[in-house]
Amino acid sequence: MNKNHLLFAVFFSLMVFVEAVSAVGKQRIISTADNHSSASKPETTATISVDVTKGKKISDHLFGIFFEDLNYAADGGLYAELIQNRSFEYSPADRKGWNPLTAWEYTTDGFGYGAISVETTSPLNGNNPHYVVLIVEDEGQQGVGLTNSGFDGIVIRAGEKYDFSAFIRLISGQPIPFEIKLQDSKGEICGKATFTSDSNDWKNFTATITATQSNDSCHFVILAKGKGKFALDEVSLFPQKTFKGRTNGLRADLAQTIADLKPKFMRFPGGCLVHGDGLGNMYRWKNTIGPVEQRVEQRDIWNYHQSVGLGYFEYFQFCEDIGAKPLPVVPAAVSCQNSGGTWRIGGTGQRGLPPEEMQSYIQEILDLIEYANGSASTTWGAKRAKAGHPQPFNLEYIGIGNEDKQTPEFRERFKMIYNAVRAVHPEITIVGTVGPAPDGEDFDLGWKFAGENKVSMVDEHYYKEPSWFLKNLHRYDTYNREASHIYVGEYAAHDIDRKNTLRSALAEAAYMTSLERNGDVVGMASYAPLLAKSGNTQWIPDMIYFNNSSVMPSVNYYVQQLFGQNSGDQFVSNKVILSDAASKAADCLPVSVVRERNSGDLIIKLVNTLQTPVNAKINLKGTGFPDKIGTKAVLTGLPDDRISKPQITSIQVGKEFSIELPANSFTVIRLKTNK
Ligand code: AHR
Repeated sequence: MNKNHLLFAVFFSLMVFVEAVSAVGKQRIISTADNHSSASKPETTATISVDVTKGKKISDHLFGIFFEDLNYAADGGLYAELIQNRSFEYSPADRKGWNPLTAWEYTTDGFGYGAISVETTSPLNGNNPHYVVLIVEDEGQQGVGLTNSGFDGIVIRAGEKYDFSAFIRLISGQPIPFEIKLQDSKGEICGKATFTSDSNDWKNFTATITATQSNDSCHFVILAKGKGKFALDEVSLFPQKTFKGRTNGLRADLAQTIADLKPKFMRFPGGCLVHGDGLGNMYRWKNTIGPVEQRVEQRDIWNYHQSVGLGYFEYFQFCEDIGAKPLPVVPAAVSCQNSGGTWRIGGTGQRGLPPEEMQSYIQEILDLIEYANGSASTTWGAKRAKAGHPQPFNLEYIGIGNEDKQTPEFRERFKMIYNAVRAVHPEITIVGTVGPAPDGEDFDLGWKFAGENKVSMVDEHYYKEPSWFLKNLHRYDTYNREASHIYVGEYAAHDIDRKNTLRSALAEAAYMTSLERNGDVVGMASYAPLLAKSGNTQWIPDMIYFNNSSVMPSVNYYVQQLFGQNSGDQFVSNKVILSDAASKAADCLPVSVVRERNSGDLIIKLVNTLQTPVNAKINLKGTGFPDKIGTKAVLTGLPDDRISKPQITSIQVGKEFSIELPANSFTVIRLKTNK
């Protein structure tokens, strides 16, 4: 064999090998698709008998949401403020390398010159100590000032209006004209406005910019166009188009995506954020109300900054706007047991507020209830009214503590708060905490403590692999109905690499059918976490991803949405008989049937966890059907799919009807019944 022959032989063998590998690959793909395809004949038959005359009352607010300022969920996320670090309060304590001028740049385009400094001697108020002082020695052709990058750029839409405001105090004598503008990355102006500052005291100036074009990565510029010296603070820019048009409001598209879940309650503001990284970092609700420039900003436990512009008033307002019951969680007067541990070396761990501070801390919690529910003539109700909401927010629930370690320090403080709230507000349901996991020491001790103190509801959390959810479909069947009820405050199926997959979403759907079946003892449940800004995540997986211009709900979102939009207040008795005994034994087809008393609608949820389709025969007993047409929503795909969406079609219904449940699918059938 000469050299050419040898080369040809090697090349030929390589080609044969590549062909063979690709054929095997093709075969594998085809066989997977075939396996999943609903064209193949269902091997399994399911008979589902539903008796509408039998069932039980279940919670009418079972599925809700849990909001925590994690993954840039608030600033740079749901909170619509476009300026980052608007009050110059960022610091290295928030994040290494950050300082009061983070996201800002001193701007002297057009050959102006002067000087910039950050000062604290005569602030706007003591809660907001840092401000910028600018000296303009020569304004040049364009002025001297500052540029803000926004949260990785500012998104604007042509023709829409943006409200600017800032506090300015003249230090030199003469009024100074200002120009504010939105500029794209090439320096082109996308909208501008002007005003003149004329006060030697701090004064709020406002102006409106109309965007002349759409752009996803603008920056904001404020320029002094005359010589002088002035102080600047709390520089803000808001789209006028916020959710429901609220001032100091929320990003409309993101808020609407949340509203579309039809959540029955909202837990806020955390999570770990509540008990905080050390005692000084606990979330204190009073710091988060009133004029935004007077709120007390602080480090976010997730390694960034909280402006608290989205504070307690805004949380309550949002709950009302989306028809969700508010469920605020306050610290149990102890800091997170991981304080300084996981995040920083040499930390304190769990610490309790000193005994001498407990009475005023308890009063702070009672004041929160008055702020939410008191009449406008009460001290705290008046503050709510002043913020624009004279009517109460109808608070029914309050959580005390989050996943706290069950130590004597925690228990002593929890009990003091719990007894005080119960004595003054027996109408409020208190939610206690039983640790971060579905079992273990804190879980057991937490439940024992809850039993001893007759806590009405406890908050269970679990982040587990999809198979755990499928194995635990009967977890609550045997829970004592006379003991504390359950709020599943945080859960999510964590698949390989913690990716959002259809596999994890179906495991959650299956589990949620078991929550409905146990809706007499499980009062509430919320997936966690809710939001994540792409490129700024500290925790995955999450329910809704977003960037500055788009919202990208995960496949898990659609499961939550189907449950939220199709909830009931009555669990209806049903029996599932599968032709394949092995599948039945393995709980492969979890089913839940609920009815919504007001509308009389009957809702059947079926999760096919099998890799093959199932032919389901549905027999309904005990009611008539005014409409012969119902709706059917089907979420399906391959287990690894990440972007499946439910397909909604109409379906012929009657006392008996059949439907095919695709492999790996979640199907929701909704039909009208005679009331
Ligand atoms: O949801 C993310 C975190 O998980 C929450 O802050 C905490 O409560 C839990 O450990």
